[in-house]
Amino acid sequence: MEICLHKYTSDNSVILLNSQTERWIKVNREKYEKLDEELKKKLVENYGLTRCSDKEKEINSVYLFLTHHCNMACDFCFLQCSPDIEIEKDFDSEKIMKYYDLLSSSPDTKLVVTGGEPLSRPDIKDVLKKLSEKVGKERIILQTNGLLLNDEKLDQIKDYIGCIEMSIENVVRDEKLKNTMEKRYAAINATGCVLSFSYVIDSDSEEYLRAALELADRYDAYFQMRFVEPIGNGAGYSLDMWENQDRLMKKSYLTFLDYVIENQGFERRYSSVIDNALIPREKCGGFGEVAALHPNGDVFPCGNIVDKKMLLANLEEDKIIDKTYYDRDDVKSRFVTGEKKECLNCDYLYFCNGICGAIDRRYEHFAAYKKSTCKMKKDLLYFGMFVKKDSWSREEYFRNYRAFLMDDDMKKTVKRDVEKICI
Ligand SMILES: C[S@@+](CC[C@H](N)C(=O)[O-])C[C@H]1O[C@@H](n2cnc3c(N)ncnc32)[C@H](O)[C@@H]1O
Ligand code: SF4
Ligand code: SF4
Repeated sequence: MEICLHKYTSDNSVILLNSQTERWIKVNREKYEKLDEELKKKLVENYGLTRCSDKEKEINSVYLFLTHHCNMACDFCFLQCSPDIEIEKDFDSEKIMKYYDLLSSSPDTKLVVTGGEPLSRPDIKDVLKKLSEKVGKERIILQTNGLLLNDEKLDQIKDYIGCIEMSIENVVRDEKLKNTMEKRYAAINATGCVLSFSYVIDSDSEEYLRAALELADRYDAYFQMRFVEPIGNGAGYSLDMWENQDRLMKKSYLTFLDYVIENQGFERRYSSVIDNALIPREKCGGFGEVAALHPNGDVFPCGNIVDKKMLLANLEEDKIIDKTYYDRDDVKSRFVTGEKKECLNCDYLYFCNGICGAIDRRYEHFAAYKKSTCKMKKDLLYFGMFVKKDSWSREEYFRNYRAFLMDDDMKKTVKRDVEKICI
């Protein structure tokens, strides 16, 4: 029998990947090239690269959009939420539970309760209580801008959530608001709920990134450094911003690395921002592992998609998700790594999952967005695949990461092809 592995070759190393099982090894190039067929076979067998995966895809993450109403109207909001959207049209808690049961029966499902602004629902306590009885509070993440979270509301919901993920773009640029919110972060810490901050970076918010990291450091929060995606309002940014996205990303990474190094924050929660281990995948979660439920019963295959053409089901009308959805070519071309035609020639494919399936390929600045973000993505992947050493301490990892990003002259040659090995 012959197996096909993806092979990535740099000047000094060879990486062999079984993308189905996500297992990979890195070996010295010179030594690898001297191996005969028998030794190559032994190598891949010893490291478990010949195994197959028969994992059935099933929904393991549910995004529950409790409302599209919001007390804010952010420039980048992919869902285009605002105070103008009526909250009265949202589904009631009974329907939410009924729909949830139709979507997932797995006890391990991660549940992201989001919106719009979920805390703007008057029945939020009741909804969270019912959900936590169903899935367990430790699996519930509440995404909120936090502005409505006073002591009374926190007291009502704290026993029904495991993590509060709070957006802080507005907080860091307004001293008065920051002072108010800091009291709330301290109150969340006192409840034992995990605190996580989300920070969306665009050309305006980048200058406050350091202040955002200081907050995460002070309140022992996880930190999500998100770069604005061209979806919904996010598609309204100028061509100039997309053309310079790689510079913005690099600057933000350096701000982050400098902050961690200067503050010796190597073991702090916020420092895990860049720890995303390299997880090469054949498909993203949108291909059968995620369901995003909206107030009108619409279900989409990913939390960032609201394009009607990609509708998975409407639970008002359908009682079950039709699995043949995933056989559609247009669906595969959004979520299956090897089917994304704009990425097929990329040497980093599989280690990079390809362009996010939520982004409309017909977007007018798509080419500029892709060119600049891919430049940065490839640099980050090169570091993870060929530079990073397992033997480094955490401090060495941060210092070397910084040195790598500062070195514009480093040659980064990668060639991807297929390695066929008889086993
Ligand atoms: C839609 S919001 C809903 C929850 C809540 N209102 C909030 O802002 O946290 C969920 C998350 O999506 C992020 N987000 C919204 N639009 C985005 C975009 N275009 N690109 C990247 N992240 C975005 C927000 O910053 C937030 O962390
Ligand atoms: S990102 Fe969150 S806070 Fe901002 S408008 Fe959208 S839903 Fe509201
Ligand atoms: S780096 Fe860019 S071109 Fe390469 S796979 Fe990722 S998204 Fe596609």
